[in-house]
Amino acid sequence: MTQLQVNHLEVTRIPTPYGEFRLHLYAHNQDNREPLALVMGDVSGQAEVLVRLHSECYTGDVLGSQRCDCGEQLQQAMQMIADEGTGAIVYLRQEGRGIGLLEKLRAYNLQDQGYDTVEANLMLGHQADERDYTVAARILEDLQIQSVRLLTNNPRKIDSLVTLGMPVVNRIPLHGTLNAENRRYIQTKIERMAHFPHENGASSYLQQPVLSQVNQRLTEANQPERRPYITLSYAQTLDGCIALKSGQHLDISNPQSYTLSHQLRAKHQAILVGIGTVLADNPRLTVRLAEGANPQPVILDSHLRIPLTANLLRHPTYPPLIFTTLEADKDRQTALEALGVTVFRLPPTADQLLPLESIVTKLAELGLISLMVEGGAGIITSFVKAQLVDQLVMTIAPTLAGGVRAINPLNLPQADVLPHLTNLQQQRLGDDQIICGDILWQTT
Ligand SMILES: NC(=O)c1ccc[n+]([C@@H]2O[C@H](COP(=O)([O-])OP(=O)(O)OC[C@H]3O[C@@H](n4cnc5c(N)ncnc54)[C@H](OP(=O)(O)O)[C@@H]3O)[C@@H](O)[C@H]2O)c1
Repeated sequence: MTQLQVNHLEVTRIPTPYGEFRLHLYAHNQDNREPLALVMGDVSGQAEVLVRLHSECYTGDVLGSQRCDCGEQLQQAMQMIADEGTGAIVYLRQEGRGIGLLEKLRAYNLQDQGYDTVEANLMLGHQADERDYTVAARILEDLQIQSVRLLTNNPRKIDSLVTLGMPVVNRIPLHGTLNAENRRYIQTKIERMAHFPHENGASSYLQQPVLSQVNQRLTEANQPERRPYITLSYAQTLDGCIALKSGQHLDISNPQSYTLSHQLRAKHQAILVGIGTVLADNPRLTVRLAEGANPQPVILDSHLRIPLTANLLRHPTYPPLIFTTLEADKDRQTALEALGVTVFRLPPTADQLLPLESIVTKLAELGLISLMVEGGAGIITSFVKAQLVDQLVMTIAPTLAGGVRAINPLNLPQADVLPHLTNLQQQRLGDDQIICGDILWQTT
């Protein structure tokens, strides 16, 4: 296929019940379906613009069909953009998740015979979702949008935009009303297409026992001045691995459990990782897939090995706190401080690691009352060994990896006293199993 070229054809003023938008009409060289962009305010050169990628749905958008929530999502997006005064809706001409109106109507007839929306598309010889967001990315570039907060429940849209070079700094859910006609359709999108479920309120039909227990613990945690309340959270395979090889990133969680980890981040005031994770994953540790504030990032890095190009050094809210040793390079510290980082120097322990007790005490002194520890293996092991974990939230993906174990040998002094999970909660998110509980050191 020839390289995509998108041409701006015309723009005009469109007054709507939500306020005045500008409607841009585009053409491109792949087919003759003309995409549109409905824009409010000055988006040019702006970062974190509120954006919706809306795929055309004649039945939902125009007729207000109750078989889907498309029409309502479009209207909500217009309303939310109008409330902010700035934003854009890219309207893509890919009816029926890309299969066209005729095939969509046929798929509806199959759904009326009892098949779900995915089965119906497959029976007609299509994929479950044939949409492509390349045109959308090029239109956002044409509008000179620098990064987006995406109004969506669809993780594929986020992945596609990021892959196409458009940063997605946050996801904002967009849920229409559930009714007897659309309930199964929406549930299928959640269960079979990994769409994010409704998050809060009475309309939430996927219960969240893990999140509510974590919430409860954090609310109850009237934390002593000594240290923050500590949640250890990570994702592992069935055979207990968090990576294939040391220093390599492995995607373990499915989109729903990944969202849960962002929801957990939003509940904590600080989030901690080791330098091994920074080097392997280059994480941002921000809350992008849920609502809520970013936690303060904390990094343990004895030799200030963090690259000056690390994502964490461009954190949108808080430059990280870095704990290092007394011997770490002073010039490196100066370079990091120039990026807003605060560096704390501590004498190392006998095994040449940073002293966790002193670190969590320092975080408490800084007023941080809850800490989420996200990994990797070295850090998980040290926190467990030091008995500095109050609760554990573990995602278990149905995969075997034969790689790097989440917990290295603990070499516990007494084999009969082990960290045990009490008040256990379990939850399935797609095919991932989430286990959470309070850690209690008890005699076996
Ligand atoms: N699946 C998940 O949920 C998940 C989450 C996070 C990471 N990961 C994976 O985990 C792997 C990284 O694990 P990792 O063990 O190499 O690195 P890590 O646990 O992120 O960091 C370990 C490093 O932190 C420093 N450190 C300083 N004080 C420490 C202390 N008291 N205890 C432990 N470490 C201390 C040490 O490096 P210095 O001596 O240089 O300071 C140590 O080598 C990557 O493959 C990553 O993808 C997976």
